[in-house]
Amino acid sequence: MSIPLIDLNAVSFAPGGVAVLHDVTLQANERRIGVVGRNGSGKTSLARVLAGLVSPAAGQVRIAGVDVAKDRKAALRTVGILFQNPDHQIIFPTVEEEISFGLTQLGQSGTDAAQNTTAMLAQFDRTHWAKAAIHQLSQGQRQLVCLMSILAMRPKLIILDEPFAGLDIPTTLHLTRVLSQLDAHLVHITHDPQHLAGYDRVIWIDEGRVARDGAGQTVIPAFMTRMQQLGEQDDFTHLSG
Ligand SMILES: Nc1ncnc2c1ncn2[C@@H]1O[C@H](COP(=O)(O)OP(=O)(O)O)[C@@H](O)[C@H]1O
Ligand SMILES: [Mg+2]
Repeated sequence: MSIPLIDLNAVSFAPGGVAVLHDVTLQANERRIGVVGRNGSGKTSLARVLAGLVSPAAGQVRIAGVDVAKDRKAALRTVGILFQNPDHQIIFPTVEEEISFGLTQLGQSGTDAAQNTTAMLAQFDRTHWAKAAIHQLSQGQRQLVCLMSILAMRPKLIILDEPFAGLDIPTTLHLTRVLSQLDAHLVHITHDPQHLAGYDRVIWIDEGRVARDGAGQTVIPAFMTRMQQLGEQDDFTHLSG
């Protein structure tokens, strides 16, 4: 039996002692996996658990067989995460420094990291960005820098947490095109299922649990119906976020 790409076994996550993910078990191998859910449903928590940035309170998380919370070194080669806000990710002043940092983290020499950074910029026709000051780029451009930094590390799986939040329509369309051309497997987290058209599999998270899991064609309409029902209620007191 081959090792599943994503393997969550009875995962709970409880930052500060309050459970926000409850007993999540799932296996997935699809190339394009969507995660939908309301604000506060636990999507970002799931993203952080999948990337191994946080340890589950209970259960196991394995990505391509790697225990990503425990084996951080192997995790860096296995899974990359694009945060909702690029400014929470970027640590260096220039584009080339930002991209090459991850490569040196993987153990590449300075020369190799520089070469691979140049190649990554060339792949996106952004060679002229190498020395650019990141803070002078637009949010969409900074998002692309983060994506290039992740892609340069060649992870098997890339987690995208609301990658289009705050981007205008042309930038969203450009990033959509870039994402559709990637070879890596994607987990794309969003509150807006429009972004998941054509996805092989969609997982609907509600209150820290898997509410539905299946083909996008069935999960997305069910999610939309439920969201419309909630939107028509007069009483918003029970609605989170
Ligand atoms: N570090 C944390 N400490 C305490 N509560 C948290 C922490 N991270 C997330 N939460 C809570 O977990 C719930 C799910 O949050 P989150 O995963 O960010 O949801 P989503 O991304 O779906 O909006 C929310 O109620 C949030 O307040
Ligand atoms: Mg979130």
